[in-house]
Amino acid sequence: MTSVSLSTSAANALRADAVVVAVAKGPKGLVLAPGAETVDEAFDGKLADVLGTLGATGAEGEAVKLPAPAGVKAPLVLAVGLGEAAEDGGFDAEALRRAAGTAARTLHGSKKAAFALPSGDAASVEAVALGALLGAYAFTAFRGDEAKAAGKAPLGEISLVGGKRDKAAKAAVERATVLAEEMNRTRDLINTPPNDLFPKSFADIVTAVGKEHGLKVEVLDEKALAKGGFGGILGVGVGSARPPRLVKVAYTHPKAKQTLAFVGKGITYDSGGISLKPAGHNETMKCDMSGAAAVFAAVVSAARLGLQVNVTGWLALAENMPSGSATRPGDVLKMYGGKTVEVLNTDAEGRLVLADAIVRAGEEKPDAIVDVATLTGAMMMALGSRTFGIMANQDGFRDKVFAAATAAGEQSWPMPLPAELRKGMDSPTADIANMGERMGGGLVAGLFLQEFVTEGTPWAHLDIAGPAYHEGAAYGYIPKGGTGSAVRTLVQLAEETAAGDL
Ligand code: BES
Ligand code: ZN
Ligand code: ZN
Repeated sequence: MTSVSLSTSAANALRADAVVVAVAKGPKGLVLAPGAETVDEAFDGKLADVLGTLGATGAEGEAVKLPAPAGVKAPLVLAVGLGEAAEDGGFDAEALRRAAGTAARTLHGSKKAAFALPSGDAASVEAVALGALLGAYAFTAFRGDEAKAAGKAPLGEISLVGGKRDKAAKAAVERATVLAEEMNRTRDLINTPPNDLFPKSFADIVTAVGKEHGLKVEVLDEKALAKGGFGGILGVGVGSARPPRLVKVAYTHPKAKQTLAFVGKGITYDSGGISLKPAGHNETMKCDMSGAAAVFAAVVSAARLGLQVNVTGWLALAENMPSGSATRPGDVLKMYGGKTVEVLNTDAEGRLVLADAIVRAGEEKPDAIVDVATLTGAMMMALGSRTFGIMANQDGFRDKVFAAATAAGEQSWPMPLPAELRKGMDSPTADIANMGERMGGGLVAGLFLQEFVTEGTPWAHLDIAGPAYHEGAAYGYIPKGGTGSAVRTLVQLAEETAAGDL
């Protein structure tokens, strides 16, 4: 695994495979960002000119390699672009994260790099460390050794040079390390093929990791789910040879004043069930457990950071498959808590497993519930593939979650729950149907979930169908495949709750 450390060495003096500097777009062309000074001296103050000659402009995403001159211990200099500086001449955290991510990605296969990026304050240190650790991610578990040897292994060691080594900087590196390792854990779970990651194997991982971090883990298997009356989770999982699970993973702090419940959609594969998805829509559906993976990682993060808040994760795990035993469109399920649902489309399965888990979470009277789910294609239609939607039963709580996501560096947008869309889910047979109007499908799904939230409990729903899984080319600190969407937002919420700000 990649590690980050703070070094007192000057950028030019550290023995490494490469030294990374940042460049930006100035009013009169490319400029060097703070941190590059000693490397520039070795170029006789001409580094910006040399990079300009090589075609660098300082644009975001740019990565230019050049051989190091005498006076720099590392043989290679890598210049990464930050884009334009902010109005105050500084660089925002996201620009730093992206540049550091691009650098770490470019250096796949190297053992050690010195990062000489802007690091004037703890926030910058955290951004560079986080971006670098996330950019260094590679999913190699299912590749042969040859591929691993051919430059696919992640950058081994990252030394942040040129900054302070004070308490604040050390805490920033620690927080970045926890967040990155937990986001990378989420990515691994998402990227693991569905023949390897299914409800039982996922639950086993939570049990093992939970033990490592002192968490309390309870797993309900199919028998316990039947006994408890979890008709939603069972109804979705009943078509699969691999039975469903409901996993509770709890972190408690002795001085905690509040408890957060995080609920995650954990469909380890979504074929659509009897309402089978057509080819072209099922190739990436191993990602349909991204919400559960994010929730799990957030609980582990809270524990590793020792936050003064209780955080309970509820992972609703099932595989949605068509078979002779599968739920049919037209079947009625009796959900946990007693409500009945007419299943009109077996591909709208996420809301069914979540409904059970939300009711169960509500029984423990948490101070707030946040669910995370790759719930609807409609949310992707609305917001594109890099932004998740936030819905809630209280405007104030939705605003808080939106602010937390923004502070955490995640792109999101508040969405409404228009009451008039509820009647589209009226069923002639059951209390509610699992489908309503097509228009506003992401909001319809949110309204369905709201029916299962205990009155008075603040609840928010994050539909991460867009950003959970990245199909295009890697950029910044985002790789192809699982991204770790929502982990930072959940951890931010837990931190704010611990600080009494929720
Ligand atoms: N898992 C899908 C949603 C999804 C789509 C996630 C694309 C990520 C990328 C979900 O279970 C689903 O199939 N939803 C249906 C609901 C519809 C049948 C009401 C959808 O969005 O089409
Ligand atoms: Zn589906
Ligand atoms: Zn799904």
